[in-house]
Amino acid sequence: MTLQHFVMTQPDDWHLHLRDGEMLKAVLPYTARQFARAIVMPNLKPPVTTVGHATAYAQRIRAALPTELIEQGVTFEPLMTLYLTDQTAAEEIQRAKDSGIVQAVKLYPAGATTNSESGVTDLNRCSKALEAMQKNAMVLCIHGEVTHQDIDVFDREAVFIDRVLIPLRHRFPELRIVFEHITTRQAAEYVQSASGPIAATITPQHLLYNRNALFQGGIRPHYYCLPVLKREVHRQALLAAATGGSPKFFLGTDSAPHEQAAKETACGCAGCFSAPFALELYAQAFASVDALDRLEAFASFYGPDFYGLPRNTKKIKLSRVAQKISSPIAAAGGFLVPLGFGEPLEWQFEGPT
Ligand code: NCD
Ligand code: ZN
Repeated sequence: MTLQHFVMTQPDDWHLHLRDGEMLKAVLPYTARQFARAIVMPNLKPPVTTVGHATAYAQRIRAALPTELIEQGVTFEPLMTLYLTDQTAAEEIQRAKDSGIVQAVKLYPAGATTNSESGVTDLNRCSKALEAMQKNAMVLCIHGEVTHQDIDVFDREAVFIDRVLIPLRHRFPELRIVFEHITTRQAAEYVQSASGPIAATITPQHLLYNRNALFQGGIRPHYYCLPVLKREVHRQALLAAATGGSPKFFLGTDSAPHEQAAKETACGCAGCFSAPFALELYAQAFASVDALDRLEAFASFYGPDFYGLPRNTKKIKLSRVAQKISSPIAAAGGFLVPLGFGEPLEWQFEGPT
């Protein structure tokens, strides 16, 4: 008999963009329905570079949770991150550790992606901050792409491993690293075989689609994110890593809302808005290789284990109900087109059990 329901420990999202203001209010409920906690990315404008900024942002996130969700018993804990810059001081890392609200520091190579202009231009300028992170067991989340224009956009992650990540880990072997939203076979193999404290998050889009999705019958901006989708061989390697039962790979949606008008334009923004159907999309990917029994550990166990946080205790249910991601979502005066728009889904998130 085929499985009709699926109960699992409530998951967390270990890589999420919530934005701010009206957009935050519009998108937060989707994540809070499914996930108990999320690592919230700091690439606001201006970026979240201090514990003071992170504390204020965490308060805005908590205040944005709608009353009706709270009345339904929904709780949501934002796990905050600091945006690493060439100027981040070791003292700020210490304050972050002492604050108890900051769980990680995010490295964006300057110019790598959305709102990364203030990112790191040269990691050698961050030695003091990195030393303080290593000493305090503070996680470094890495957007792993080189930014040189002479490197092909499809090669930027693999080149980053050799040119930046391996030398960085050589200098700071005890630094706890999450290689974010990996997209290549090379990244999966590197993380799997590396010794020491390194793990990786994987998004639903990189498990479900290869780069053909960007060009199916015409240009498809809603499948465009960074790092960009790669060839099928890479998707298969990521799917094998996610479903292989290794605690080094866990869930991070990288849900990154951009208004429809900012995506469907001559120079569209990078980012897929996956929050509304995040678990359904992961279930679809895992079911495609008959590995639904591996989803719970990937989504709910390995992330908190790596971050040294307790696992959630609530349970949630998914049911086998065909649905279609069929309408753009009104948000902040415009619309958001969710990842998988127009596609059928086999599973439906039902909520807590
Ligand atoms: C993210 C965003 O829009 O903030 N975009 C994306 O394509 N993933 C930034 C990021 O995580 O690279
Ligand atoms: Zn991201």
